[in-house]
Amino acid sequence: MELNLTGKTAIVTGGSAGIGLACAGALFREGVRILIAGRNPKRLEKAVQSIDSAGADSRGQVFTISADLTDAGGVRRVEKEAIKLLQNIDILINCAGAARAGAFFELSDQDFLDAWQLKLLGYIRMVRAIVPHMAARRDGRIVNIIGAAGRTPPSTFLAGSTTNAALINFTRGISRELARDDIRINAISPGSTATERSKRLIRQTAEAKGISIDEAMAETVGSIPTGRLVDPSEIADLALFLVSDRAASITGAEILMDGGRTPGM
Ligand SMILES: NC(=O)c1ccc[n+]([C@@H]2O[C@H](COP(=O)([O-])OP(=O)(O)OC[C@H]3O[C@@H](n4cnc5c(N)ncnc54)[C@H](OP(=O)(O)O)[C@@H]3O)[C@@H](O)[C@H]2O)c1
Repeated sequence: MELNLTGKTAIVTGGSAGIGLACAGALFREGVRILIAGRNPKRLEKAVQSIDSAGADSRGQVFTISADLTDAGGVRRVEKEAIKLLQNIDILINCAGAARAGAFFELSDQDFLDAWQLKLLGYIRMVRAIVPHMAARRDGRIVNIIGAAGRTPPSTFLAGSTTNAALINFTRGISRELARDDIRINAISPGSTATERSKRLIRQTAEAKGISIDEAMAETVGSIPTGRLVDPSEIADLALFLVSDRAASITGAEILMDGGRTPGM
């Protein structure tokens, strides 16, 4: 399918690992100029090497910025750097998140605040910072990587699931207003996805439930009808479709990609 993304520009937050890295790599291979944001400069450098080597003949370009998106200053720096390096911004993929799993009575206020600060406020602030640039050109495409726990909250992941529920609400709520400026915003909600973070989550879930890591992994995989974790590249493929003109009438939508795990309508 021709996506016609060559020559576009994009910001991918959390683009140095996992789902964000898969999205950045896929955009790069389509010939997109990208700025990826994360905190750890070494991880960013490694990400650039892996993106470059997987798309050697691409017309894309990849830039990095080390920024902590838990604070408004980090978001402002990403915005400034993007305008300096890319001149304009066609695409925003919000993907930086790191909520920890754990038994509810062992999670502190700070665990909740950390999750809300980075992912909920981080995504909202990025939208607030980048939309004016998109609106000025009457074109923009935003994808928020949220998570299936937003609708089906496990008791051992409430800091993350409350964040996700609020972000579904935000995505849907803001979509109508952004549509007036020809900006589309959609959400992808992955189920358990094979990234570094999912290994961490499974370890934390095992601790919260008092079971072994192997048991927690078997429980997770056993609850997924397709019998495996989602691969980050599958999420990247959907994100690319959503930011392309092929999805011109899709906005305010949340698409679940969880191997059929979520029950109900
Ligand atoms: N993996 C799953 O099973 C799953 C399921 C549903 C939803 N999700 C969501 O998908 C998104 C990505 O998850 P993932 O599994 O790909 O995570 P990951 O492999 O841990 O990657 C997280 C990325 O975010 C960056 N990041 C973390 N904290 C940051 C901060 N304070 N400021 C800026 N960047 C930060 C990380 O780089 P640095 O650490 O260097 O900052 C890294 O690039 C998250 O929003 C997550 O909630 C994941």
